[in-house]
Amino acid sequence: MSFNNLDQLYRQVIMDHYKHPRNYGELDDDVVTINMNNPTCGDRIQLTLKVEDDKVSDVKFSGEGCSISLASASMMTEAIKGLSVADALKMSGLFSDMIQGKEYADDELNFGDIEALQGVSKFPARIKCATLAWKAMEEGLQE
Ligand code: FES
Repeated sequence: MSFNNLDQLYRQVIMDHYKHPRNYGELDDDVVTINMNNPTCGDRIQLTLKVEDDKVSDVKFSGEGCSISLASASMMTEAIKGLSVADALKMSGLFSDMIQGKEYADDELNFGDIEALQGVSKFPARIKCATLAWKAMEEGLQE
C-alpha cells in the first residue's frame, strides 16, 4: 500500500471512531471516575472504569474534544477492555512511545486501530489531544 493510501486509510479509521465512538457513556456502581482536561484547549474527558479481579472488566468515556482526542479515547477503551491492569498500563506506555515517534513493540499487546494515530507524532501540538484519555486511564488504574 502506498504511503498516501495508508494515510487515507488511517484518516478514515480516526473519523470512524470520532463519528461512532465505541464505549461512549458512563458506567455506574463501583467504578473509578476520572475527569481530565487538555489545558491547551479546555476540552475534557470523563472516564469510568470498572476493575474486577485485577482486570479492566468495563470502561466508558464521555466528553468534548477534537477528532483526535475522541477517536483516541474510543480506541483506548476498545483496547483495554478485558486486559489486566498491568497490561493496560503497559499499553499506555507503548502508546506514549508511539505518539512521540519513538520505537515501540506492540507484538504482545495488539494495537489494532490505534496505529491509525501514528501520524500524530508529526504534529507535536496534537500529542496532548491524543494522550488525554490515556492519561485519564493511567490515573484511574494507579489509584
Ligand atoms: Fe482540544 Fe484536541 S483540540 S483535545
